[in-house]
Amino acid sequence: MTVRLANQPLDLIEADLRLEFLTQPQLENHPHRALLEQAGFKAEAEQLCTLHERRVMVCGIADTSSETLRSAMASAVKTAMGYNYASLKLAQYGEEAFSALIEGTVLGSYRFDAYKSDPKPSALAEVVFSNVNSDGSALDADALEKTLRDTLIIAEATNFVRDLVNQTPYDMTPQGMAVAAETLAKNNGLECTILDPNGLEDEKMFAMLSVGRASVNPPRLIHLAYKPKNPKKKITLVGKGLTYDSGGLSLKAATSMVTMKMDKAGACAVMGMIKAISELGLEIEVHGFIGAVENMIGGNAYKPDDVLRAKNGKTIEVRNTDAEGRLVLADVLGYAQANVNADYLFDYATLTGACMVALGPYTTGVMGHNEELKRSFVDAGSAAGEYCGILPFNRHLKKLIKSDIADVCNVSSKPYGGAITAALFLDHFIDENMKDKWVHFDIAGSAYTESAWDVHTYGGTGAGVRMTLQWVLNNLA
Ligand code: BES
Ligand code: ZN
Ligand code: ZN
Repeated sequence: MTVRLANQPLDLIEADLRLEFLTQPQLENHPHRALLEQAGFKAEAEQLCTLHERRVMVCGIADTSSETLRSAMASAVKTAMGYNYASLKLAQYGEEAFSALIEGTVLGSYRFDAYKSDPKPSALAEVVFSNVNSDGSALDADALEKTLRDTLIIAEATNFVRDLVNQTPYDMTPQGMAVAAETLAKNNGLECTILDPNGLEDEKMFAMLSVGRASVNPPRLIHLAYKPKNPKKKITLVGKGLTYDSGGLSLKAATSMVTMKMDKAGACAVMGMIKAISELGLEIEVHGFIGAVENMIGGNAYKPDDVLRAKNGKTIEVRNTDAEGRLVLADVLGYAQANVNADYLFDYATLTGACMVALGPYTTGVMGHNEELKRSFVDAGSAAGEYCGILPFNRHLKKLIKSDIADVCNVSSKPYGGAITAALFLDHFIDENMKDKWVHFDIAGSAYTESAWDVHTYGGTGAGVRMTLQWVLNNLA
């Protein structure tokens, strides 16, 4: 689908269908008010009504905030894709709303049909935004064109992440992730290095190796790098890439295992971010490190009671093999810090069910030592249309992951605050000089959905991408 800006008033733009957003007061004076009311339209939030004879589609909105318009646009586009119109046009709602409407268009039109034998194609090929206000005035076309280009890059990178997340564990194995990374590197001029189990052994990454040991699909460490000529800053992004999490010997219950293909969402988000940053051409060096592993059972599986030595030399008592993401991240964080001296270190992981308990299913948990940095992410998230909530550390929680036999235990001794104790576990693998530069994002709740909400449909959401890109644009670009 193409999205374009037209330097014409709405009425002069040729398109099959016109979309209008209406608040209740606006419905009062609407030329089609009688017809719309007859059809039961009350301009309630996200209520849609199409007058096919008039080639008009109206969508109710409670207010004109970006959040509302983004979500309403997604619903409208999804419905329009079910008709037989080839093009849709809409008016100019102002500069700030413009990018939200583009996001709504691209994210709302997303479909994942790879496993359908008879997917229904949509006729909708074009969405056209007018650049001319109803009073005849126009916004700065160059500025809007740039907004359009940048927003498309970020929204399409989000859909790229969704595509990766939605693939089955059979299709997207650790080696499958490596191939996807190599393809991205080739298309976007990135450097890409892959370590296989021998390479991981050379690097003494025994925590990650242990998690992957019982799988017929051996682990891969993926390092992607975007290196512009004169980088202003250097950032490292680390992603949890569990292509499947069965729980291992601490096996998950049947119903909790379903959806665990999404345990690679952090890794996929890192790929989407580096894709977007390279396409935006930002003068920021970006390193993406991905631990791609499958957590399975078998005669050689790692066990509760094992003690593992991570890359940074620390020993870990395993008490639950389902707390595997933190073991993989321990080594990948160690490897990332040993190889790149970055200004910022961010990790993304579907790490704990506890994060969902704490914040609900739509919100990313933000954790780390640097209060200002965490707050800057919450701001970026809310501007970009992602929900983020800070979960605070404290020294008492730290004691809950003490081990009697090793340096640290992979699970907490108490059943509460599991998202925070998981992050405090990761803290053991953050070098002293990086403590204030590190933020951990638990996307367990936000990365995947089984029911549509906001701009999301069933499956991967691409959580982390828009928030991080907004943060980069706010703080580094
Ligand atoms: N991948 C899961 C976390 C998860 C759960 C993500 C639900 C998305 C939805 C993680 O590896 C895990 O199993 N965590 C355990 C930790 C526990 C054993 C301390 C959990 O959350 O139950
Ligand atoms: Zn697990
Ligand atoms: Zn997991």
